[in-house]
Amino acid sequence: MGFQKNFPLRHFSCFLAARGKNPRPKTMANKDQTDTNRMEKIVSLCKRKGFIFQSAEIYGGLNGCWDYGPLGAEVKRNLKDLWWRKNVLERDDILGLDGSILTHQAVLSASGHVGGFSDPMCDCLLTKARLRADQIEPQSGIAYHFTGASHEESGWSVDRAYSVLLNQPNQDENKARKTAREFYAQFLTDKQIPAKKLILVGESTSEEKEVTHYNPENGSLLTEPRDFELMFKTQMGASADDNDPNATAYLRPETAQSIFVQYKNVMDSNRVKLPFGIAQIGKAFRNEINPRNFTFRSREFEQMEIEYFCRPEDGLRLTDEWLANRLAFYDEIGLKKEKLHVLDIPDGERAHYSQKTYDIEYDFPFGQQELEGVAYRGDYDLGKHKEHSGKPLEYFDEQTKERFIPHVVEPSAGCDRTILALICEAFDEEDLTKEGGKQDIRTVMRFKPTIAPIKAAILPLLKNKPELVEKAREVKNLLQPFMNVFYDETAAIGRRYRRQDEVGTPFCIAIDFETMGLEEGKEDLKDTVTIRHRDSMKQERVAISELLPWLLERIH
Ligand code: GAP
Repeated sequence: MGFQKNFPLRHFSCFLAARGKNPRPKTMANKDQTDTNRMEKIVSLCKRKGFIFQSAEIYGGLNGCWDYGPLGAEVKRNLKDLWWRKNVLERDDILGLDGSILTHQAVLSASGHVGGFSDPMCDCLLTKARLRADQIEPQSGIAYHFTGASHEESGWSVDRAYSVLLNQPNQDENKARKTAREFYAQFLTDKQIPAKKLILVGESTSEEKEVTHYNPENGSLLTEPRDFELMFKTQMGASADDNDPNATAYLRPETAQSIFVQYKNVMDSNRVKLPFGIAQIGKAFRNEINPRNFTFRSREFEQMEIEYFCRPEDGLRLTDEWLANRLAFYDEIGLKKEKLHVLDIPDGERAHYSQKTYDIEYDFPFGQQELEGVAYRGDYDLGKHKEHSGKPLEYFDEQTKERFIPHVVEPSAGCDRTILALICEAFDEEDLTKEGGKQDIRTVMRFKPTIAPIKAAILPLLKNKPELVEKAREVKNLLQPFMNVFYDETAAIGRRYRRQDEVGTPFCIAIDFETMGLEEGKEDLKDTVTIRHRDSMKQERVAISELLPWLLERIH
């Protein structure tokens, strides 16, 4: 397969995620390949320039939720428009859908999400931090066990087993005792008694090998894993009783289910034939335990999903075709090939109904992580909805007179994750320091013009020359109906170029004295503008009459 050459198929010994319906192996970020400093700069630029803000920041922030600022909103719109154009508008075999976010509980019971879409979680007995049980690295070492603690002077005591693991060779055993005292101190009624005054009771030790019930951060014992429901549940209707199962609805955890549930309506109302797809872009919600890595794992996020329905014999071939198609999309939007990795998920680690699943991962500054899954899901989803709804969901083939449940291939991409990848890819600090000169670092967001939030900045050379300002405003009015442009007349032109570099504007258009035909010997440059290219910083002149087609050709 062609893509294997460019995108090495790699498999990692992974951690099996316990997402009931669709267990996906998750790779842990490779700490050796992370760049915290770079990530911090990216997060800071996103806030400073108005790409992404934390939701409800002035109230301390809503964990796992993000707001896209003016520039972020443009990037998001550009990405979604491009995805929609490539996958719906430019194809004859894919139709769009915009389903409701509030989802009937019967839909999610049939799909297996109700009762199945959960993560096994355990809590640190010392700090109360909540950890994904299936993502804890096995550890070995000496465990120190205690049966309780007491305080002689006050006569206080607690009877409760607790253990601490020391997982480093030659670690001071007093560290385990100190941790245990801190644990028992939580039960003290008299908060004036310091933890170090407690006497530990019933100490014993054991050698532990490859165990996962201790917190890797501090060695404290963890609780037994419990399933943590990942869906946001709500009650519908004014008179809804909290316990009425008929009033229960969910915020959808994926956009896919409304596609399956509406597949027959779409088919009947549009007279489509296999193979055909239904595409949807929309919000999904998951009550993630540990939202992290900026927007990467959020509780509210957007997905861009296609369910591509086909005959059973075409499923595997189409899965490979979709993988190649999706990789070409990432290439087109500017993610470097060498930073994309395809994982061919092996037998036993895929969902039981899936004969093939590829994960497309990207090298984020915090490690290699999933961007998209391309999964061959067989007839599982439509079969389940047929079974639970009792409605006929078969496809009738007019030619062969066969009636069957179509199979489905699902390319499922994260919109926010793709934006994060685009931002990480674009961020660059170019060293322009001249020999012996003052350090000069140029921050440039090297977005592809299709993705860039501002396509062109219009800059009159001087703001105190009314004729330059008037001409610049004319140019702005010419371009504004067709693209997002930015007008700026403040500061020196060099400074204004740098400001645009920082937000990724690919073209700066300067209106100067040549434009006005006022430069002696350069009268032929009248009604032309200087275009300064963001990446090369080279300049060229383009006639105003040619400007619109010149830009349109480059930004689409
Ligand atoms: N319909 C299949 C499905 O939802 P998934 O792997 O759970 O599969 C698909 O999700 C994509 O949605 C992921 O590859 C990722 O890009 C995005 N995604 C999933 N959970 C996310 C989260 N908590 N935050 C941001 N994006 C997420």
